[in-house]
Amino acid sequence: MDLVSTLAVAFWAMLPAYVPNNVAVLVGGGRPIDGGRTLGERRILGDGKTWRGTIAGTLAGAALALLLSAVSGTVGDALSISLPSFPLVVAFSLSFGAMLGDITASFLKRRTGRERGAAFPGVDQLDFVVGALGLTAVAAPAWFGEWFTVPVIVTVLVVTPLLHIGTNGIAYVLDLKKEPW
Ligand code: CTP
Ligand code: MG
Repeated sequence: MDLVSTLAVAFWAMLPAYVPNNVAVLVGGGRPIDGGRTLGERRILGDGKTWRGTIAGTLAGAALALLLSAVSGTVGDALSISLPSFPLVVAFSLSFGAMLGDITASFLKRRTGRERGAAFPGVDQLDFVVGALGLTAVAAPAWFGEWFTVPVIVTVLVVTPLLHIGTNGIAYVLDLKKEPW
């Protein structure tokens, strides 16, 4: 695969994992997943991880995956690049895995004394990538092996933090997010 194809596959395959966190920011709120409970001195997850954000984010990411599946052939032909479609299990493992990675990061943030909204450099930018790729590798190993080749994974790890910083910066400037990370 040439560089352009690798970039295109990486971006296309990761879109269902990129969208959930942004949708959670837009619609999040209501009852926190941890129900306000603490572990030791601190909250288990904190008020920033809600049922509504998690469910809406997961459904939005999975819906986008199914939409992309419907057009992957047409778009791929137009670009002369073979793009993945997403079986249902992958649609959910990418989107829910992204949310799970973000939730795990909040758990680690609270355990390391970081308040809600505090920055955790590196973790903030890649938590959802690790969650999405990890869950998909377990849930659909054949699909994962076909599309997430080593060059694609390396591309995802390099490009995602840049995209994340860009989109969160925009959300911050638009007042959708309290902090730019
Ligand atoms: N959000 C949500 N449910 C999630 C993830 C995010 O409702 N599973 C919403 C919350 O309103 C949250 C906002 O999106 O405040 C921003 O998400 P994020 O930056 O991940 O949360 P923080 O509030 O910064 O909390 P934390 O320090 O735990 O990351
Ligand atoms: Mg945050």
